[in-house]
This record gives sequence, structure tokens and C-alpha cells, in this order.
Amino acid sequence: MTKKTVITGTGRYVPPRVVTNDDLSQWMETSDEWIQQRTGIEKRHWVDEDAPVGPSDLGLEASQIALNRAGWSPADIDLIIFATLSPDIFFPGPGCLLQHKLGLSATPALDIRQQCTGFIYGLATADAYIRSGMATKILLVGAEVHSTGLDISTEGRDVSVIFGDGAAAVCLEAVDSDQDVGVLASVLHAKGSMAESLKTEAPASREWPRLTAKMMEERRHFPHMDGKAIFKEALRRLPEVTKEALDQAGLTTEDIDLYIPHQANMRINQFYQQMMKLPEEKVFHNIQRYGNTTAATIPLALDEALEMGLIGKGSTVLFLGLGSGVTWGANIHRFPE
Ligand code: ACO
Repeated sequence: MTKKTVITGTGRYVPPRVVTNDDLSQWMETSDEWIQQRTGIEKRHWVDEDAPVGPSDLGLEASQIALNRAGWSPADIDLIIFATLSPDIFFPGPGCLLQHKLGLSATPALDIRQQCTGFIYGLATADAYIRSGMATKILLVGAEVHSTGLDISTEGRDVSVIFGDGAAAVCLEAVDSDQDVGVLASVLHAKGSMAESLKTEAPASREWPRLTAKMMEERRHFPHMDGKAIFKEALRRLPEVTKEALDQAGLTTEDIDLYIPHQANMRINQFYQQMMKLPEEKVFHNIQRYGNTTAATIPLALDEALEMGLIGKGSTVLFLGLGSGVTWGANIHRFPE
């Protein structure tokens, strides 16, 4: 018998405030038509601007649902892994904040970055902890509050229209089994030469002081993206990493019941589906309703796909994505029968 890492509970939470494409056109020159045509996004959820909360707060809501579904109490968790690019504060990371909000006092909390592949890197990390016997029950959370850090003027419109706030969590459990269940493959990559293609520079520890009025005037505290370069890289890397993950698991494209790609742009995922010759219904989309929620996106989509009955017991799911770093990767997970 070997230890397998199995998803035993999922949960998601988005703040109640809905921001439509038409709402965005109050603040910037844009249109519902442009946003839908170029990205597929119709609306996104943003935290309340008068009473904003952090990713650890959104993550708490999602975690409570996941814990409940897994039948765990917070005390059962022996490691928290928190993925985000938008931490509540500069340091410490939201893993520690969430740990306290869950009422825990000594449970380890590990924060990871990796942006849009935060969940993929997090799942691979959790799987390594579980297979090595260092943990048996891990809470993996992906959460973002983008809206408080976006340039919502016309100058920032290419980036700000794509991002939404949200959180999702999964409970990962060590299961002793000789069957092919749980995490069957994980492939991780990064290309630091493209780090400047999608970044928020400030506050920057490499500068003194880290944040100045001049930096803010130059809009260096807002995210900037070379959208075309990232788009092209995604189209090259996503099919490549799918093949690597399938090879690692000894599976073919037909063995996958549902592909859950990161939701950065509907067009990227449609091109991917065509390049991979996959039937349309095998590639999950929910970008229309949430935009890009970065580290939350994949577990949020997983939670919805489970709720919609698209997958369930015995299903094999492939998670994949590419984002800032740039980082990209994939995991394959099979739910036990
Ligand atoms: N509304 C209206 N017009 C706009 C908007 C907007 N929101 N944004 C840009 N435009 C205009 C531009 O000014 C430009 O006008 P011009 O031709 O007069 O100069 C025109 O539309 C085309 O702009 P591009 O930026 O070239 O548009 P593009 O087709 O590349 O779409 C987009 C931009 C949607 C951002 C796309 O490049 C993309 O999705 N890239 C990949 C994003 C991605 O995968 N990111 C990784 C994950 S995110 C993460 O890791 C945190």
C-alpha cells in the first residue's frame, strides 16, 4: 500500500459585490463588447470598497465549507498551504492569518506565491508532504483580493478588466491504497526571463524607500502585463505540459473526464481545446462569471464542476495553467470510486 493524496472536500467563496463590464465603463474607456470578445468575461466579484477584506477572510469562508464537506474540524489540519499573489499585508503571509481565524494556535502554515499556478504548485507540494509522511491532512487554499490594487483608469484597462476577487479551498487527505487514485501526476515549470512580462513592482524591497509618491505617480504599484507575450506563451506551454502530465501518469487525453484550465482568458482555453482536439464539453469554463481569480481559479472551478455533477466519484481531472513568473504546470487527480 502506498500513500495517495486525495481531495476529500472543496469549498468556494466570492464576495457578494458583482461588478459588470458596464460598471467598469464608468471609470475607464471600455465596453462590454470589447471585454467579452477579447476575454469572455461578463462580470466579476470585487470586495466592498467601503469595507474591504483580505484573502485570508475570503479563504476562511471557503475553508469552512471545505472542512465541513470533508468532515474535518480545524484541529484535524496538520498543515495549511496558502497560495496568493495579493497577501492581506506585506508580511506575514495569509497562511498565518487564516490559521488564527480558524482558531488554531500551533498548526504550521506555509505561504506560496506562483500567481495563477499557485494551486498547481500547492497541490504538488501537498502531495510531496503526504507521500513522504510529513502530513496526513492538508488544507490548501487559493485566494485573491485583486480589486484593491488595480488601476481602474483607462491607462490600466488591459489588466484591470480581467481580475476578480475570490477564494477556494480543498482538503487533502493521505489514503493508503494500491489503486491509481488521488494525485497521479504533477509537472511544474518556471521561466524567470519572462518575470517582467507580468508584475506589480512596488512596494519593492530592492528600492529605498520601498514605496514613494513618485513610484505611485508612475503607477508602479499597479500590475502591468505584456498581454500578447503571455498569451503566446500560454498557447505554447499548456499543450506541452498536458502531454508531460499525461505521460507521467501513463494516461491519454481520452482518460481525462474534465480539463480544468486556469481561467485567464476564454480565448486561450478555446485555442487550447482546439489544439488538443478535445470535445468542447471536456474543457471547463467559468471565467464569464468570475474573471481571473488567479490562485483561487482552479479550486473554484473544481468546486463548481463537482457541484454541477460534471465530475464525481471515479472521475479523472487534469488541472493546468500558466501565469506570472512565468510559471506553468499541471496535475492529474482521480477521485476514488
Ligand atoms: N477595453 C477597451 N479597449 C482595450 C482594453 C479594454 N479593457 N484593453 C486594451 N484595449 C485596447 C488597447 O488599448 C489596444 O488599442 P489600440 O489597438 O488602439 O492600441 C487594443 O485594445 C488591443 O489591446 P491589446 O492589449 O493588444 O489586446 P489583446 O487582444 O492582447 O487583449 C488581454 C488583452 C485580454 C489582456 C490579452 O492579451 C490576454 O488575455 N493576455 C493573456 C493574459 C494572461 O493569460 N495572463 C496570465 C494570467 S494572470 C496572472 O498570472 C496574475
